[in-house]
Amino acid sequence: MLTGNEIRSKFIEFFKDKTHKHFESASLIPDDPTLLLTVAGMVPFKPFFLGQKEAPYPRVTTYQKCIRTNDLENVGRTARHHTFFEMLGNFSFGDYFKREAIEWSWEFVTEILKFDKEKLWVSVFKDDDETAKIWQEIVGIPAEKIVRLGEEDNFWAAGPTGSCGPCSEIYIDMGEEFGCESPTCGVGCDCDRYLEIWNLVFTEYNRLEDGSLEPLPKKNIDTGAGLERLTAALNKTHTTFETDLLFPILEKVAEMANVKYKNNEKTDFSLKVITDHIRAIIFLISDGVLPSNEGRGYVLRRILRRAVRHGRLLNITDNFLYKLVDFVVDMMKNAYPELEKTKEHVRKVIKIEEEKFSKTLDQGIEMAIREIEKLKLQKKTKFDAETVFKLYDTYGFPFELTEEIAIEHGIKVSFDEFNEKMEEQKNRARNSREVIKEEGQDEFIEKFYDIYGKTNFEGYNLLETKAIVYDIQKLEENKLQIIFDKTVFYAESGGQVSDSGIIIGDNFNGKVIDVQKRKDIYLHIVEINEGDIEKGNELILKVDKEKRDSIKRNHTATHLLHEALKEVVGEHVNQAGSLVTEDRLRFDFTHYEGLTRKQVEEVERIVNKKIFENLEVKIEYMDIESAKSKGAMALFGDKYGDIVRVVSVEGFSIELCGGTHVNRTGEIGLFNILHESGIAAGVRRIEATTGYKSFEVVNEMEREILKVAELLKTDINHIEDKIIKLLETQKELTKELEITKSKLATYEANSLFNEIEEINGVKVLLKTFKNKEAGELREIVDKAKEKLNSCVVVLGTNNKKAIFAVGVTKDLINKIKAGDLVRKIAEVAGGKGGGRADFAQAGGPNGDKVTEAIKLAKKILTESL
Ligand code: ALA
Repeated sequence: MLTGNEIRSKFIEFFKDKTHKHFESASLIPDDPTLLLTVAGMVPFKPFFLGQKEAPYPRVTTYQKCIRTNDLENVGRTARHHTFFEMLGNFSFGDYFKREAIEWSWEFVTEILKFDKEKLWVSVFKDDDETAKIWQEIVGIPAEKIVRLGEEDNFWAAGPTGSCGPCSEIYIDMGEEFGCESPTCGVGCDCDRYLEIWNLVFTEYNRLEDGSLEPLPKKNIDTGAGLERLTAALNKTHTTFETDLLFPILEKVAEMANVKYKNNEKTDFSLKVITDHIRAIIFLISDGVLPSNEGRGYVLRRILRRAVRHGRLLNITDNFLYKLVDFVVDMMKNAYPELEKTKEHVRKVIKIEEEKFSKTLDQGIEMAIREIEKLKLQKKTKFDAETVFKLYDTYGFPFELTEEIAIEHGIKVSFDEFNEKMEEQKNRARNSREVIKEEGQDEFIEKFYDIYGKTNFEGYNLLETKAIVYDIQKLEENKLQIIFDKTVFYAESGGQVSDSGIIIGDNFNGKVIDVQKRKDIYLHIVEINEGDIEKGNELILKVDKEKRDSIKRNHTATHLLHEALKEVVGEHVNQAGSLVTEDRLRFDFTHYEGLTRKQVEEVERIVNKKIFENLEVKIEYMDIESAKSKGAMALFGDKYGDIVRVVSVEGFSIELCGGTHVNRTGEIGLFNILHESGIAAGVRRIEATTGYKSFEVVNEMEREILKVAELLKTDINHIEDKIIKLLETQKELTKELEITKSKLATYEANSLFNEIEEINGVKVLLKTFKNKEAGELREIVDKAKEKLNSCVVVLGTNNKKAIFAVGVTKDLINKIKAGDLVRKIAEVAGGKGGGRADFAQAGGPNGDKVTEAIKLAKKILTESL
């Protein structure tokens, strides 16, 4: 029996023999604004089906990594639901059609995989007689095993609009023991008996917004066979989790949790969830997704958190998901070599997110318990749906976990109410998706494109051209949006800001302040200096060369930086964002920790070395396959068959890029890193300057340093020595000052003894100071008590506020207590205080009342002693 890994290779070999070109699996992040993730093998090929692009090969075959999350809650509960799965497919772009697709699928299933023909069934779309006839007459399937099904089962589309068509599916009868025993059980039944193993889609329509079907220019084939299912069916395992593609992972998780598979339904469920989810998590991060609260990042976060929670349900208390990375990567890296390169990054991102969520999870449990206690006090017995949903939404709790905790405390929860809240949220999410879609559809642009096509961009070679005005729209009193037949102005894209410049006509003069690109139509935002223009006018378009040159330097430097980072930090470094302006460049990249000073310096050194080597920067156009074979870093997912623009720096960097670049690296001048910092978990940012800007930055630094040298009365070569010396001197002086202060306190105390008076035969020291600290007063009190043996000391200082310290030797505390005395005198200064009988301190806001307070002290002492 073939293993899953063998089926994968056999499939590709089979279709290569039938002259199909094998393409590598495309990224999980599709180059398609209508889709969040790659959900099927056909996703990368949509433009070919729709006739938007010419397919580079008429026949293609792939095994494609896919993710579907519409049934997330079912993953682990059923035998076959998955988030991540692999889809085997063969595609025809206007080449062969139904007959070959059907015959070959049958050949593969019966002759290569050797499924028992007797057990195979097929379904066709309800009125697709042509397909039924091929199955019956050419393949020889008996009529009773050809089932006709409706739209829901046998009409396939990746989304509500776009390429689609009727389909035909191959089913395997797994045997009665897998069935549901319903009298109507048959092909199309939801139970586990008739398993769909291959879907053949006859892609011949484009579904428009209004739901109508428009025939495509050519008829195409899109087929999809889920590898995990096919393997399970062939190996007769009860679930896909028991195939060689997944079982080793499940066993590994079981070992971590110290449980046995098939011992307990609940633990099996959790084992399956983790087994499925870890693959999705690894592949998503490897393709550049990071956990976040929106879009793909949120999909990743939900899956990861669900896996962590199931780890808790299995009593795994440590962070564990990241420990599975190496194991899974080793299993899958032959088929997906990119995993090896990114695994370190993947591991770190998982670890950080896991650690973060573990904290939330504990907080969630605390909140649940608090709520339960509140309910008990109110003598209620049911959780309100709001709380259950909050636990789910904010703390990432599955309903079951909340339910479990609630039941332990005799509290009920309603799944239906919780579900209602979920539906409300789903609707909110759906609505916000629709808004995004609507925003993307700009009717004006569509119409304009139909009439005029795209704007010709001449700006790679020219900085000035004459162009005809095709459209003008007034944006504000003084601001226009103009479209020309051609342009030299680069529109903001790929992180590079737009060009600026001027537009001059016979009686018009304007400033281009922004240029945007929609469907390759360049929209120039122009501020009118003077005059007026009309459609059809011919104008001179002139790019601000100085700004363009600065941008070019920064853009080429960005490519050098990207490559240097890979060399110094590691292959896993990938661009996560970029901004190229005339002033600086900003480059965000995936890495899990801050760069060391040494790494930053090394990156800077490599980039400058490549600049000083004055290497040629070459721009070439080629198909994506050739670009990839040359080692180009494709940043935004592959676009098969596209002619791409390849920017390479001789022997160092090669990237697909539409930006403007210098001719030789020497033009960049000095490359200077300003900062390196973290901006999100697993994402770092470097900001840097080049050319004149670096010159200015360095100049500014030099000015600062010269200023410092001047202040230090030295030259710039001796600043460090001088500062070290100064610091040493300062340390010595501080030490000396401490000693001097202490000596001074003794001296002052001694001199104070001349001021000692006697009240009723008791030695008393009453004294008012200015600007002394509380500690100093205390020291004087202690010294006086020590020296005089028997005395009362009352000190005050005007420090803007008033501070008092009173000391009474033990032999006198039966006559007067320091605490009482200080309280009374502090009142004079608007304050309060008190303390022990032998020593007490107090303060008050009115420093100017200190003398008066000390006078009061004398009066009180005269009365008490
Ligand atoms: N695109 C088809 C599917 O995913 C083959 O089922």
